Amino acid sequence: MKIQKIIGAGAIGLASIVAAYAHGGATGIVKERMEAMGTMSDVVKALLAMMRGETAYNADAVRDGAETIRRHAGEALTGLFPEGSGGEPSEAKAEVWSNWDEFSALAAQLETLSEGLGLAADNGLMSGSGGQAQGGMMGGGTGMMGSANTMMGGTAPMMGRGGSFDAAALAAMPADGVFNMIAQSCSACHTKFRLEKN
Ligand code: HEC
Repeated sequence: MKIQKIIGAGAIGLASIVAAYAHGGATGIVKERMEAMGTMSDVVKALLAMMRGETAYNADAVRDGAETIRRHAGEALTGLFPEGSGGEPSEAKAEVWSNWDEFSALAAQLETLSEGLGLAADNGLMSGSGGQAQGGMMGGGTGMMGSANTMMGGTAPMMGRGGSFDAAALAAMPADGVFNMIAQSCSACHTKFRLEKN
């Protein structure tokens, strides 16, 4: 609740992503993917405080976190969902396998976004409060912001279709902008492919 209020509409469902989770007696590959998801969730939680300006912005920590998510996204993610691994206690919907193209597109999208977050880490926050503002980059600041906003505006409709992000464009955005897109990417996949248990 508190999380959603502070972050605003940009990260709908974030509270549910970082909420406490239980593995529900899962074993094998199901347990493995739940743990992988939990690892990503821990990263999102840790970076959230920074993105909210609660803790000091640390570009290295953002890069590390982005790399952790990247390692669990894309084919690393889809590889944990072999055919026939649905059903109790898994919360994966049958759509994962009947709509595999979209599922893997979302996993790939998360990979691109996390790559982008790593590249954008030095840009700091949109507000400019925590960033390591570098003189040389200041001149381009306004233009970058403008394009970041345009991208943010276009984000929602792109989500769920495995949008066509490109890491170079993301690299020019403020880190919290890319972070919000990551949170939306998690939510987009959960909305479509994960059973709502709570
Ligand atoms: C491509 C789809 C997809 C993406 C992207 C995705 N998830 Fe998931 N996530 C799932 C599915 C499906 C499950 C249910 C897995 C199961 O129960 O077998 C799940 C489960 C979870 C769980 C619950 C794990 C448990 O112990 O039951 C958490 C927490 C989670 N995801 C966090 C995240 C975070 C954080 C991100 C983004 C950084 C993310 N997920 C991105 C599909 C996705």
